[in-house]
Amino acid sequence: MDKQTQPTILFFDSGVGGFSVYKETKQLLPNCHYLYCFDNAYFPYSEKTEEQIVRRTLSICHKIDQDFPLDLIVIACNTASTVVLPVLREHFSIPIVGTVPAIKPAAEISETKHIGLLATKGTVKRTYVYDLIKNHASHCMVEKIGSTKLVEIAEQKLHGKYVDFIALKQELSAWQAIMDLDTVVLGCTHFPLIKEEIAQCLPQVKYFMDSGKAIALRVKSLLSNVKVRSEILEKNFIFCTQLFNYETQFQHIIHLWGFEALHLLAIDE
Ligand code: DGL
Repeated sequence: MDKQTQPTILFFDSGVGGFSVYKETKQLLPNCHYLYCFDNAYFPYSEKTEEQIVRRTLSICHKIDQDFPLDLIVIACNTASTVVLPVLREHFSIPIVGTVPAIKPAAEISETKHIGLLATKGTVKRTYVYDLIKNHASHCMVEKIGSTKLVEIAEQKLHGKYVDFIALKQELSAWQAIMDLDTVVLGCTHFPLIKEEIAQCLPQVKYFMDSGKAIALRVKSLLSNVKVRSEILEKNFIFCTQLFNYETQFQHIIHLWGFEALHLLAIDE
């Protein structure tokens, strides 16, 4: 991709979960201009109403787009994607890519046809997810766990805190005795960040499915039809919606993942 016409892509999540999606896209398309916003003032989205999530996502995307004309937005959050995509597509004429639980590939790969959906409290009860299961996994038995605790554990891990294995085990305890559960959908973008720890608690699970790679491929294919709106060369950086104790570990992660700096995005509400 020509550096002069690099498209600007925004990744949006409530926290650091979207990094698991961004990482795959950045690997496939290293030269794009990347912005990442985490709405830490409203974290966790697992506990928020659909109206709150729609309102926040819209105002944040609009605000960033005013200063940095966006060419594509990735809603790197399942909880938001299951409610916000139609509204965002009404407001923006650029491609909007959502993240939804990888139910279809999980139902295909499972040998026992007994799968688990691990997601946030919001995601597991959305109509969107019921429809995904009805349309693509009706031949499977589908277990569900909706957890805020796991989101918090993953968030903390990337902020340099230790992973609380006792709490993690407790959250997954309902599945520990289901021996034929061979596939788990990581239906929250935070969960690939603690995949190894989750796998240790569920040794019977053979496949963990997330949507990161599929999203990267979708972004690549959509960009081939995008006319870049702004040709100014910008650095990659991160926005947060609330100041926080910017620990060394987090700074290290930002640089490691190709971002220059962290900025505060003021959202009036
Ligand atoms: N990472 C998000 C998701 O994929 C949201 C987690 C949260 O804030 O509860 O659902």
